Amino acid sequence: MKLIAPSVLSADFGHLEQDLQMINRSDADWLHIDVMDGVFVPNISFGFPVMEPMRKYCTKPLDVHLMIVHPEKYVERFCDAGAWSVGFHLEAVDDPLPILDLIKAKGVRTCLTINPDIDVKRLVPYLDKVDMVLLMSVFAGFGGQKFIPETMDKIRFIREEIDKRGLKTLIEIDGGVNTENAAGLFAAGADVLVAGSAVFGAKDPEEAIRKMKR
Ligand code: DX5
Ligand code: ZN
Repeated sequence: MKLIAPSVLSADFGHLEQDLQMINRSDADWLHIDVMDGVFVPNISFGFPVMEPMRKYCTKPLDVHLMIVHPEKYVERFCDAGAWSVGFHLEAVDDPLPILDLIKAKGVRTCLTINPDIDVKRLVPYLDKVDMVLLMSVFAGFGGQKFIPETMDKIRFIREEIDKRGLKTLIEIDGGVNTENAAGLFAAGADVLVAGSAVFGAKDPEEAIRKMKR
């Protein structure tokens, strides 16, 4: 699959509705929603009051990426707030399974995420228990960082593990994705690319999205 999920973190929050209308018109597949708590990551983004207008004005599925400690406290609220998928970090929890169950019980798709310093092999036991895995290609916390090239081998590794089990689990890549590296990421086995600054910082964001999908 070749899906693009622009990250709303790089949108203009003063004109959020306009940016969401651009996303609605565009070939973007999902809208990626980065929630940061200032504890799991050294940055704070936004929460439910800002997600509400996103739900209201955005016609694309909302792909929620929680960068928070204790995701078990909030995953259900994000499901109720209209998330299409909810992901949290493996390294933020002791046991992801009961948290995945909370999300599944809401009928929402699940995603497990790891930062670049977490061994990709730690995802393997969960590949048949989630709808998607998200490999961070920068350290979670900020948009506009540079893509970490070592991510490429991790994509190939996890692609092989998924294929050899005959699973449908999607691979999402987040951080430093742009029109230059998108094709290589899809070729390595990624299904979904998150792009913040490369979309919202582009002169023609809709064209940037189209380019990444080609
Ligand atoms: C980083 C976030 C990313 C970020 C990507 O912690 O998870 O989704 O918005 O931004 P770019 O595409 O600018 O690297
Ligand atoms: Zn993200």
